[in-house]
Amino acid sequence: MRTRSPRETRDLGELIGRSVPPGTVIAFRGGLGAGKTTLAKGIARGLGVEDEVTSPTYTLVFEYRGRMPLRHVDAYRLSSPAEFEEIGASELMGTDGLCLIEWSENVAAALPAEAVVVEILPGDGPEARIVEISGSPLEELLP
Ligand SMILES: Nc1ncnc2c1ncn2[C@@H]1O[C@H](COP(=O)(O)OP(=O)(O)O)[C@@H](O)[C@H]1O
Ligand SMILES: [Mg+2]
Repeated sequence: MRTRSPRETRDLGELIGRSVPPGTVIAFRGGLGAGKTTLAKGIARGLGVEDEVTSPTYTLVFEYRGRMPLRHVDAYRLSSPAEFEEIGASELMGTDGLCLIEWSENVAAALPAEAVVVEILPGDGPEARIVEISGSPLEELLP
């Protein structure tokens, strides 16, 4: 899927947030400035989160209340899957909520096989992005 502005990326996120079932883990891939947090903001909006969503770079995790709990993890500062386990990976990825993981590459071995992988790649121009979604159930839900 291609987006042509931050707004389009947020709108795509909103669509994801509206349709995602509880227990979903979304593993983001893509470098600094790719648009992971922008997409996460849209997902939160689709989930009905009213609080402002900001990057949990320093705190590692922010939790929000929406139609299900949203747990937003930034694994940038985690150097191993074991460190993710130490901050409570299994609860963060619980069956009751939605877990979004930025810099998921850093904790790949701790992710469930069913995690939805969302990779954001540069597109054709500064505001263009390619968003590649792989894994059930989101693959089927989106146009
Ligand atoms: N199509 C797009 N989708 C998302 N962000 C975009 C897009 N075009 C430009 N941007 C800009 O890229 C930056 C993405 O930042 P952010 O979402 O924090 O990235 P990340 O969390 O991947 O580091 C923002 O400054 C945003 O305005
Ligand atoms: Mg970010």
